[in-house]
Amino acid sequence: MFNQFKAIVEEGDTVILYLSPFQVFALPVKDTIKNKHGVMVENIFQTSYGALKVKDLVGVKYGSKAKLSKGWGFVLYPTPELWTQTLPHRTQIIYTPDISVIIMQLELKPGDVVIESGTGSGSLSHSLARTVQQSGHVYTFDFHEDRARIATEEFQTHGLTQVTCQHRDVVQDGFGEELNNKVDAVFLDLPHPWLAVESAVKSLKSRGGRFCSFSPCIEQVQRTCESLRKLGFVDINTVECLQKEFSVGYRNLPLAEFGESYNHQNDNSNTRHKFVSVTPATPTMQGHTGYITSATLPPVHVRVTS
Ligand SMILES: C[S@@+](CC[C@H](N)C(=O)[O-])C[C@H]1O[C@@H](n2cnc3c(N)ncnc32)[C@H](O)[C@@H]1O
Repeated sequence: MFNQFKAIVEEGDTVILYLSPFQVFALPVKDTIKNKHGVMVENIFQTSYGALKVKDLVGVKYGSKAKLSKGWGFVLYPTPELWTQTLPHRTQIIYTPDISVIIMQLELKPGDVVIESGTGSGSLSHSLARTVQQSGHVYTFDFHEDRARIATEEFQTHGLTQVTCQHRDVVQDGFGEELNNKVDAVFLDLPHPWLAVESAVKSLKSRGGRFCSFSPCIEQVQRTCESLRKLGFVDINTVECLQKEFSVGYRNLPLAEFGESYNHQNDNSNTRHKFVSVTPATPTMQGHTGYITSATLPPVHVRVTS
C-alpha cells in the first residue's frame, strides 16, 4: 500500500493516526493484535483523547478526522517519512533529514537497483523503495535473523514488492554472486563499512555507480575512505546533515528611533510595532547523528586501483 495512494482505508492497511506533532502513531487496521505477552487481543488503541477501535477505520477517507472516545485525530495515508516517525525501533534508525541527503548522494531514480545493509528497522528501506519504485529493486541484508524476518514481514504488509530482504552477513559473505555487476548504488549502515567496500565494487555495474555509507564516528569514516581510495573510487566526500529550523511570525517590538529628532527626554521606547521576525524554532538544535560518506566508482575501463 505504500506504493500507491488510495482514498479509503481498507482492512490490512497501515494507517497513521495524527493527534499532535508529538503524538503520531502507525496502526495496523485489523480486528486483533498480539499484546506484549504474545496473546491475541482486540485491536483497541488507547490515546490521551480516549480509545479507538482500529477496525472501525475501515471505510474512512484518508485525511479525514476519526472520532475517539474523548476527542478526534486525523487518519493519514502512510508515507516513508511518517513511517520513519512512527515505526517500531529494533535498532538505531536513520531519520528523514539524513535520508534525504543519502537518496540524493546515491543519485537514485525510478528503475534503479540498490543494495542496502544493514536493514535494521527498515526506516531507510521504505524511502529507497519509494525512490526506485516498482520498476527498480532494493536488496537489503541484515545478519540478525529476527530483524531480517520482521523487516521482510513489514515490507510484505506494506505491499513493497520491489524490496527483497535477506538474512546475510555481508562482511563475511558479500552481497551474493547473483548481484555481481547488477546494481546502480550501494548503501552501508554497518559498524565496519570498510570491510564491505570490496563487495560493493563487485556488485556495482561495469559502467560504475554510486556508493554511500552512514557512520556515527569519524574513525569509521577514515577507514572507509581509505578503502574507497584503494579500490578505485573517486569524488570521495563526507558531509554531516545538521537541520536548523526557523519560525517566521509577527512580534511586537519597541520601535528604534535613530533620526535627528531622537530625544532622550522624550524617549518613545513604549511605542511598540508589529514586525515580521525570524527566530530559531527550538532553543536547542538536533545534534550529531552520523557522517554521510559518498563516492563514485568510475566505469571499469577507467578504473585505477592502488
Ligand atoms: C544501525 S542498524 C541499520 C538501521 C537502518 N539503516 C534503518 O534506518 O533502520 C545496523 C544494522 O546492521 C546490521 N549488521 C551489522 N553488521 C552486519 C553485517 N556484517 N552484515 C549484515 N548486517 C549487519 C545489524 O544487525 C543492524 O540491524
